[in-house]
Amino acid sequence: MTWDPRSLPDLSGRVYLVTGSNAGLGYFASEQLVRAGAKVLMSARHPNRLSAARAAIRRRVVDAAPDATEPLILDTSNLGSVRSAAASVRGRGGLDGVLLNAGIVHAPKTRETTIDGNEVVFATNALGHFALAGELLTALAEASGRMVWVGSMSTALTPYDPVDPQLKDGYSAWRAYVQSKVATTSFGFEADRRLREAGVRVESVVAHPGYSTGGRTPGIVGVNEPSRAKRFADNLQAVAAQSKEHGAWPLVRALTDPDIEGGEFWGPRTGSRGEPRRQTAAKVTRDPEIAARLWSFAETATGVRWPFAKAASLSAHR
Ligand SMILES: NC(=O)c1ccc[n+]([C@@H]2O[C@H](COP(=O)([O-])OP(=O)(O)OC[C@H]3O[C@@H](n4cnc5c(N)ncnc54)[C@H](OP(=O)(O)O)[C@@H]3O)[C@@H](O)[C@H]2O)c1
Repeated sequence: MTWDPRSLPDLSGRVYLVTGSNAGLGYFASEQLVRAGAKVLMSARHPNRLSAARAAIRRRVVDAAPDATEPLILDTSNLGSVRSAAASVRGRGGLDGVLLNAGIVHAPKTRETTIDGNEVVFATNALGHFALAGELLTALAEASGRMVWVGSMSTALTPYDPVDPQLKDGYSAWRAYVQSKVATTSFGFEADRRLREAGVRVESVVAHPGYSTGGRTPGIVGVNEPSRAKRFADNLQAVAAQSKEHGAWPLVRALTDPDIEGGEFWGPRTGSRGEPRRQTAAKVTRDPEIAARLWSFAETATGVRWPFAKAASLSAHR
């Protein structure tokens, strides 16, 4: 099937959850889903930022239904927030897909921890989404849905094996970011293996947005308001960088293309920019032993064990 990222298949009747949907890639993914007729549970940690983003979608997608978006407060760095947001999503019934997008891109210079005691970048980008996807597994199984994990090219540039995921020794901002993305990508592939083995009809796909910058992205009040200096600096990188609107394309395709299967990895055509293409993920993220170790680490750190048996029985009844 040919795929035009500017003209998606009709998604009427579908319900998707997007984390970090008030800005950047999460905002544009939400907008693209709403344009195609889907209902989007837009989630963010800050109510005012979330309201601004929902208002922007109402302005920009004039023919969208009044209830095309629903707000959900979710802080992925806080396991209590993850549990309560997931409970409210489960209460709505089946979920067609979740885009596990929220993330700290510019990690702090020195190590910080969350109220749960986890290193903040690992907690926000990887552990929070591991817990959320597990808590939403039955809702996804009810709708034979899909989860999409957001990886990064950085995992190929410096392929760290997160032997010390909490970075108790040797913290650096770059290492914290890359390790969080290695773990996120590993979770995506390991989830696919475990879901298949358990007979759960939920797909787990990984996608990345290449190199997408705010300065090459349309200005939207309350969502993307880069300074002139940022626009100038980002435009100097035009050969490699693209807008976050285009960076959202592989994420949305990974979430909605019926021809994509669990375990696939998608990103922009050139690696850093362009239309979505299937790609090969960094070797470190495809290593089942590393993934199994990270999975067990995440179960202990979050206290979440994915309910594979319950999800499989829901799949069997469909
Ligand atoms: N841009 C790229 O080139 C690129 C490349 C590879 C991968 N990625 C990945 O793509 C994802 C989105 O990146 P982006 O470029 O769109 O970044 P962004 O513009 O900085 O947006 C990040 C989003 O995540 C949210 N977020 C941060 N911490 C959160 C928390 N604790 N709880 C809930 N939401 C939180 C932010 O909310 P606030 O506004 O409240 O902070 C914002 O909505 C990230 O996972 C990133 O690692 C991006």
